[in-house]
Amino acid sequence: MAVRHFLDLGDAGADAIAAMINDAIDRKAAREDWPRGKADTDAPLEGRVLALVFEKNSTRTRVSFDIAMRQLGGTVLILEAGSSQLGRGETIADTARVLSRMVDCIMLRTDDHAKIEEMAKHASVPVINGLTDRSHPCQIVADLLTMIEHGKALPGLEVAWFGDGNNVLHSILEAAALFKFNVRIATPAGYEPEPEFVEMAREGGATVTLTQDAVAAARDADVVVTDTWVSMGQEHVHNKLAAMAPFQVNADLMKHAKPDAIFLHCLPAHVDEEVSEDVFEGPQSVVFDEAENRIHAQKSVLLWCFGLLG
Ligand code: CP
Ligand code: NVA
Repeated sequence: MAVRHFLDLGDAGADAIAAMINDAIDRKAAREDWPRGKADTDAPLEGRVLALVFEKNSTRTRVSFDIAMRQLGGTVLILEAGSSQLGRGETIADTARVLSRMVDCIMLRTDDHAKIEEMAKHASVPVINGLTDRSHPCQIVADLLTMIEHGKALPGLEVAWFGDGNNVLHSILEAAALFKFNVRIATPAGYEPEPEFVEMAREGGATVTLTQDAVAAARDADVVVTDTWVSMGQEHVHNKLAAMAPFQVNADLMKHAKPDAIFLHCLPAHVDEEVSEDVFEGPQSVVFDEAENRIHAQKSVLLWCFGLLG
């Protein structure tokens, strides 16, 4: 079997992602209130080691992959760019070849997506995208799981995105192509997502609407999503916060969505910037379910990479 890299959702495809979500639901239910570090009964990745390589900060991705591997019976080690030879200029290609002799799987969080493609090209073990400037597929597997858990069947769903057309939105658009849900995107001019992701979603059969009218995007939405206005690595963008202000998700905007709409945010959140406190803390917000689901979703991603799912 070819090495299964998970650089974007399309690497697995709709059937495998549907299998991942079903397995995540089953494994989550089977554990209920078990101690978080206790392995699942079958411990399918016993003896396996995952290297977590970080060139950017992380809380959820780091902790959820660590706990996911513990629950699957495996272990992790963490490499930070600043304290490894990567930070002193050792090439991605050499790092990939060395890690492939030492561990069973590599997760990389980095900036330029070309770096993760380079890692996958030279690795002989699976490589998982833990976020790049271009996409964040693990997050979206958790988001799809969260939508389904909250009763939102994916085909035909109306998902509304507000703010910056960033890496998280790109993966939502890829998911829309695979699962045929619709995406309304409200951004300031100049902050739209990359056109290739919009085209991908449309070619997959999703309706994608790009607008600068936040209320129009929110109208009758089933799922309301936003993310930080300034992603990691973008700290030098000027005047961005002022341009984003009309796209804040707040109670006035939520009134236009369906009454049972849910609010998602991958976190970390900047309350009073992209989301108001009343929405973030309110009854429609499922952001902490979403955060927990990173564990359950990533267990499925890992099982797929190891050829045990899909
Ligand atoms: N959502 C997410 O990826 O969070 P971290 O940056 O904390 O990993
Ligand atoms: N868009 C954000 C997501 C953080 C999880 C970033 O790239 O910083």
